[in-house]
Amino acid sequence: MNILILGAGGREHALAWKIAQSPKCDKLFIAPGNAGTATLGTNLPISAEDFDAVKKAVLENDIKMVLVGPEAPLVAGVHDFFLQDPGLKNIPVIGPTKAGAQLEGSKDFAKIFMQRFEIPTAEFRTFFDYTLSEGQKYLEKVKPPYVLKADGLAAGKGVLILDNLDEAKQELANMIGGKFGAASSKVVVEEFLDGVELSVFVLTDGEGYVILPEAKDYKRIGEGDTGLNTGGMGAVSPVPFADVAFMKKVESRIIKPTINGLNRQDILYKGFIFFGLINVGGDPYVIEYNVRMGDPEAEVVLPRIKTDFVELLEAVAEERLKDVKIEIDERTATTVMLVSGGYPGSYEKGKKITGLEDVNESIAFHAGTKLSDSDVVTSGGRVIAVSSFGSNMKDALKKSYANAEKIDFENKNYRKDIGFDL
Ligand code: AMP
Ligand code: GLY
Repeated sequence: MNILILGAGGREHALAWKIAQSPKCDKLFIAPGNAGTATLGTNLPISAEDFDAVKKAVLENDIKMVLVGPEAPLVAGVHDFFLQDPGLKNIPVIGPTKAGAQLEGSKDFAKIFMQRFEIPTAEFRTFFDYTLSEGQKYLEKVKPPYVLKADGLAAGKGVLILDNLDEAKQELANMIGGKFGAASSKVVVEEFLDGVELSVFVLTDGEGYVILPEAKDYKRIGEGDTGLNTGGMGAVSPVPFADVAFMKKVESRIIKPTINGLNRQDILYKGFIFFGLINVGGDPYVIEYNVRMGDPEAEVVLPRIKTDFVELLEAVAEERLKDVKIEIDERTATTVMLVSGGYPGSYEKGKKITGLEDVNESIAFHAGTKLSDSDVVTSGGRVIAVSSFGSNMKDALKKSYANAEKIDFENKNYRKDIGFDL
């Protein structure tokens, strides 16, 4: 079977790496891909959001399955586009339809969904232009810190956590006034939850599901979880506090009600659900849903899956996931993200990357790279995720860090303390 992956980051390189190991995959295509995915399949120079170009590529290359990496094409309705096209409707798309993608595409939708199906999450209210003054009065009544969330997709930047009431009131006005464009025309104000975060993933065909390994992501740029938020600076899987008892609570209080809720709302959901959770005194709460795998979580989760990945995806497409058992590698996987100096602020691109051929006992997943003549050069803020296995976290990190040293480019930066809190 020929398979197309949409996307271009470290997650998509990890998906390509996993799929390329399956005897069920004949030709692998990635659109647009990066210098890493180019070593595993054919990169197609088309945007994941250009559905007409995707259609043309699918028909030309006899593609029989499409796996969507990032959220944007899902929120824009790529799955619906396939279902509505007579020539594409029988080609399975792994990733929810537009209605399901609202779990990530609209925070207000996600909160109302959780409230309706009694899924534990922070208390909230949603405000928009006509209710701004009501929102500001509401802020006076709730306890700080104040959590303000743009309703729509805002490239991971749409959440503000503020200690000062006047500042929170002003920012609520700024957001509704267009601080994040249309994405913040509605703003969710929610209760602050105090705890340790983790990411839990399921793959579902809408009814059956398999729980993938959980992971912890390190989002801040600075050591000790300080400084600006990034897309993710490293990850660890498994997460020690996510023991059997905790994961049982996650499954019964969060995973099952979410899948049942999607069914109750007649939403066709075939794909990944990423539960961004927080552990509050031993009880899991949902901070956010995403409708895709995490990045860099994918770079530690996918290596731990022993089951043939294409078999899993086929089971999703054919709605027989409830009969499938997934086999997980017991070892610990870690990843350390090498980023461009200046990221998540402004940074330069086009820096030549050296040392990739010297990597051993780790996998260098390309996040923001491209080929320039015969060189691999940087093309993004997050550049390479160095993933390793170990019998424990320390052992895995030792390998990731040894290889992080070998790979080089001008102004390379990375966090030296991944896993520090575990
Ligand atoms: P989100 O985009 O919803 O994941 O929010 C980004 C980050 O803000 C999360 O990863 C948390 O670290 C933090 N955050 C969001 N909501 C809350 C909350 N209700 N309480 C505490 N921290 C939060
Ligand atoms: N690492 C967090 C995310 O993928 O959203």
